[in-house]
Amino acid sequence: MAPLLEAVKLSFTYPDGTRALQNVTLSIPPGKKIAVLGPNGAGKSTLFLHFNGILRPQEGCIYFAGNRIDYSHKALINLRRQVGIVFQDPDSMLFSASVRQEISFGPLNLGLARDEVAQRVEAALVATGIADLRDKPTHFLSYGQKKRVAIASVLAMEPRVIIFDEPTAYLDPRSTREVMALLADISRQGKTIILSTHDVDIAYTWADYIYIMARGRVIGAGTPAEIFCDAALLETADLARPWLLEVYEDLKNKGWLPATAPVPQKKEELLGLIPYRSRSILAI
Ligand SMILES: Nc1ncnc2c1ncn2[C@@H]1O[C@H](COP(=O)(O)OP(=O)(O)OP(=O)(O)O)[C@@H](O)[C@H]1O
Ligand SMILES: [Mg+2]
Repeated sequence: MAPLLEAVKLSFTYPDGTRALQNVTLSIPPGKKIAVLGPNGAGKSTLFLHFNGILRPQEGCIYFAGNRIDYSHKALINLRRQVGIVFQDPDSMLFSASVRQEISFGPLNLGLARDEVAQRVEAALVATGIADLRDKPTHFLSYGQKKRVAIASVLAMEPRVIIFDEPTAYLDPRSTREVMALLADISRQGKTIILSTHDVDIAYTWADYIYIMARGRVIGAGTPAEIFCDAALLETADLARPWLLEVYEDLKNKGWLPATAPVPQKKEELLGLIPYRSRSILAI
């Protein structure tokens, strides 16, 4: 499938001399769920800022739908309509007085009719579970609530690609589950989603494909099973193994799973692999 978004040989150094990206090449196919993992300072956020044209590559280029971004005003407006970013820090996104105004801002800027804007804002409020906050001043919101407003404001723009930079960081367990369920809904609508996270369990069960970054480079790429079964890569990237794989390996080592059992990506798949005799011993 032709990629929707591509970075080709991207390099970027911040004005203070920090080399944040070095020769980064990766591609994002349409409709897929892509996770980008890597330690603090790996370059994930810097890469994302290139994906919607906030940063401009010093070397290399970005392609959207097969077109090389030329950074003309028109190209940037089009790119930002199609590629939305929910920033790591919601405070950097929110500047309107009320939640409703905040979410309306983008669609109004697109020049949409008032009715259409109101409809989109309402849908985004409901999707993110913050309908009861619609008239609240954004500066009184909790961190998790701000995060939802930030997500709603991007949803209301209806972009084809949505980038979530650490969407679940600092969220409580329930909000984490709800945000991930929302991402699953968005994905089912056919949108392309790129997410960065430090949560290997989320990346493992959620992603179709994973890129691993470290020190400004892409050092690994593959399906979740390929990535998390590569012990050397995990060691280099300082990544833990998801609990599902730990349990799977333990059960295999104890002889409770056949050595040929396929690698599960979901808890239900793991349970389905356990033969009935072992299940009664495990009492599940
Ligand atoms: N505005 C900036 N000016 C100078 N250096 C910066 C700036 N923003 C980021 N950097 C540096 O660029 C490198 C990559 O940072 P980036 O924020 O892209 O990493 P990250 O992978 O998103 O990390 P994290 O997991 O902590 O969010 C880091 O060394 C960081 O200190
Ligand atoms: Mg970051």
